[in-house]
Amino acid sequence: MEILNLFPTELFTFQNTSVDNQKLISYLEKLDNIEIKKSSTLSMIVDLRKHREFDELFAWFDQCLESVRAYMKYDCDSLEISSTWFNVALADYQMYQNVHRHSMSLLSAVYYLSEGSPTEFEDPVIHRTQAQLEVLRFDYQPFYKINPVPGKLVIFPSWMYHSSLPHLGDKHRYIISFNCLPTGKINHNLATDSKATIRIVND
Ligand SMILES: [Fe+2]
Repeated sequence: MEILNLFPTELFTFQNTSVDNQKLISYLEKLDNIEIKKSSTLSMIVDLRKHREFDELFAWFDQCLESVRAYMKYDCDSLEISSTWFNVALADYQMYQNVHRHSMSLLSAVYYLSEGSPTEFEDPVIHRTQAQLEVLRFDYQPFYKINPVPGKLVIFPSWMYHSSLPHLGDKHRYIISFNCLPTGKINHNLATDSKATIRIVND
């Protein structure tokens, strides 16, 4: 039997072993005067790239994005972070993140500063989950859970629906998230009309 594994979805994981995640959490805990979006979790709208304490981590994010760009053979000069924020799921409140995707972004990422509840990704091939005559399988669920490990980075297609499950831990769950866009000359080698030149201006 030959198996054709057609149209797979690529997610990329990296593990940082040099950053002191607990030190960064201590820094985040002291931040004030930042916009907090209260939903089922706390989303802190702050550009951490403007805080020198995160220079090493964001330089590593850039390296990871370059690895993805090279692997995917994207016809663009670079992948650049276009927006970033961090989320906190407080202990003892069972905070969670509803199913969502990220707009105005090519690839998105979650970086775990701590342990906590899993991030769950939905199978994007929705046709196989909508069959009226569904034969259940022993080894298939239309969801895939990634358990947080401090220092773990997951880069995923921004169109992919995902959520975070209720946080049951006795310590706060901290994650940093970012979106990225292709920049520089895009599609200039592979297309004649569907091309662009993009430069991100950070405000
Ligand atoms: Fe998200």
